Amino acid sequence: MAKKLPNKPKRLRAHLEQHLHILDTLPFAILQVSKKYRVVWANLAANELLQMDPINQRVEDIFGNEILYDAVEAADEDDEEVRFEFEWGVRPTLSILATVTPMQQTSTQGGRMIMTLQDLTTQRQTESVRADFVANVSHELRTPLSTLVGFIETLQGPARDDREAAERFLGIMRDQAGRMSRLVEDLLSLSKIEMNAAVLPSGAVAVGDLLHTVAESLSLQAERDDQKIVIDSTENLRVRGDADELTQVFWNLIENALKYGRESGKVSINVQPADGDQSIRIAVSDDGEGIEEKHLDRLTERFYRADKGRSRAMGGTGLGLAIVKHIVARHRGTLEIASTIGHGSTFSVILPAHKS
Ligand SMILES: Nc1ncnc2c1ncn2[C@@H]1O[C@H](COP(=O)(O)OP(=O)(O)OP(=O)(O)O)[C@@H](O)[C@H]1O
Ligand SMILES: [Mg+2]
Repeated sequence: MAKKLPNKPKRLRAHLEQHLHILDTLPFAILQVSKKYRVVWANLAANELLQMDPINQRVEDIFGNEILYDAVEAADEDDEEVRFEFEWGVRPTLSILATVTPMQQTSTQGGRMIMTLQDLTTQRQTESVRADFVANVSHELRTPLSTLVGFIETLQGPARDDREAAERFLGIMRDQAGRMSRLVEDLLSLSKIEMNAAVLPSGAVAVGDLLHTVAESLSLQAERDDQKIVIDSTENLRVRGDADELTQVFWNLIENALKYGRESGKVSINVQPADGDQSIRIAVSDDGEGIEEKHLDRLTERFYRADKGRSRAMGGTGLGLAIVKHIVARHRGTLEIASTIGHGSTFSVILPAHKS
């Protein structure tokens, strides 16, 4: 084939350009490195990843350290492919997988090795989030479980014949078992919502009716602390969504408002059209102690609690707002949190209106 090339320079150029274009569209960086370890050619992704034009740069200068140089040297001397992962840069620190492969023949530009760089940062971050999540779940399950085991041992041993203690211990055990089962239910809910994340819910949900039903189901809890739930929803506005999931959203928000609200206080729910009738804003406000600013951005993270002791004492799993965030995101809505210390908090959900 090489012999035919000079005869058809036009076709050859078109052919070459097509191949260079293919190399430029690849999602990872490719660099050709010379015998002297200088870059002689690079694709577009290399320029983007390195944030500069690497042509003529020496390999060790690009990354400002010896690691890559050593890899290139090893590949060159042993005439073997070398693969390794390294961290590069500060803020953001990237996880990069480098592969250095010696070429069969030196290229026309003097290239002796091909180096590819793959950015694995997102993948590594996902793995680390998953590992943290598993560690958190184990920790959350272990706490009530060790309480249960402790009480079982006490009931089998020292408190064997103490009816009064047994009664009290069994009550605590029931609470702890309940907490474990809530945790498992919430985890299942989260994973179900995540699995459906790409599917847009399409039903029509009458917001006022849904809020009244949720408020009704929480009325006993409200009465216990002499709290009121007041719903201000004049028009019968409808959002596009899934009724069960939205029930869960408002149940979680109103339950939080009661739980972290003031005794004999009021939980106000306000429903209003927004964005020129494109959306509907549902705001759940309490008159509790409020949340410190530094917690606001992190409240919807799984297991994040502003006040750990209080949340646990109230039997919370720390997953309520994570579930809210995921459901709202699936509905292509937004969640806003505003709070003033000493005055209370407002959690607003903005959902697309249902157009009939
Ligand atoms: N209305 C509120 N006022 C003050 N703090 C709140 C309010 N809502 C949530 N928080 C804080 O946010 C944290 C996370 O809330 P989230 O609903 O996710 O968990 P939880 O209420 O602790 O447990 P559960 O999963 O049972 O709802 C809570 O622990 C609490 O510290
Ligand atoms: Mg909650």
